[in-house]
Amino acid sequence: MKGIILAGGSATRLYPLSKAISKQIMPVYDKPMIYYPLSALMLAGIREVLVISTPRDLPMFEELLGDGSRIGMKLSYKVQLVPNGLAQAFVLGREFLNGEPGCLILGDNMFYGQHFGHMLKEAVESAEQGGACIFGYEVADPRAYGVVEFDQDGKVLSLEEKPAEPKSNYAVPGLYFYDATVCDKAAALQPSARGEYEITDLNKLYLAEGSLKVKLFSRGFAWLDTGNCDSLLEAGNFIATIQNRQGFYVSCIEEIAWRNGWISTDQLAALGKEMKTNYGRYLERLAGVKN
Ligand code: DAU
Repeated sequence: MKGIILAGGSATRLYPLSKAISKQIMPVYDKPMIYYPLSALMLAGIREVLVISTPRDLPMFEELLGDGSRIGMKLSYKVQLVPNGLAQAFVLGREFLNGEPGCLILGDNMFYGQHFGHMLKEAVESAEQGGACIFGYEVADPRAYGVVEFDQDGKVLSLEEKPAEPKSNYAVPGLYFYDATVCDKAAALQPSARGEYEITDLNKLYLAEGSLKVKLFSRGFAWLDTGNCDSLLEAGNFIATIQNRQGFYVSCIEEIAWRNGWISTDQLAALGKEMKTNYGRYLERLAGVKN
């Protein structure tokens, strides 16, 4: 399974903040936003990742993350000229996936909670066996999201993108696992009424085929939004609260690489030494360096 992070768009809801820089590179407390979705892919065990962004912003992500070798990964980059829909990730990503199953995560989606790694690994397994695996998360107001409706037995009845009158309170987060047919399916999509190649339409193809699985995140789980200034600040405060209380960092990509066995303890210590910050000290502490 390979991964794609979609980190383009113009983020006009964050203006003037996002006028000159990418939203997905902005700080969420102590790290750039893209660390959070990247760490989700890493927790899923995905080592090869394509980052897609605008012609303006892509070089910044390359500067930030490089070829990924420092964290034992293989990262590559691709421009999306026009932000014409999430499903385009699989048109732009066809060559990268090269016939393998793929996971898409949106560059502005953040997840945190117990058993997340386990759920991700189950989703990888499920999509590798065939079909698609997506998630449902109960929210008070789902109108801004893809919405999934279930029957009493938990069978998926419908999927709708940003419905004015949602049929349930289950939003679909921006984290999707697909089998190897995903690129052909994405290529066959038509633009929606708002002119976008919708991820919900892609998921509907799997639903029609009877091969769509939806796993639910429980109520203790956090799926955070970063769409406007308030939710961005709240996300930062949430991360600060957890980290300062527990002493464990959330979505620390170097830590995950080390725990996955992708980099050695010496490499972790060296990465920590480069940064004269609490973040750097944290890496050194994990590596057993006294500081
Ligand atoms: O966050 C989950 C939701 O994401 C899902 O529930 C919806 O089904 C899905 O359509 C999407 O809705 P959004 O309204 O959040 O999509 P938005 O157009 O804001 O795009 C999400 C992110 O992807 C955003 O940071 C910009 C980036 N993007 C978007 C498009 C359309 C791209 O990089 N390229 C694109 O073409």
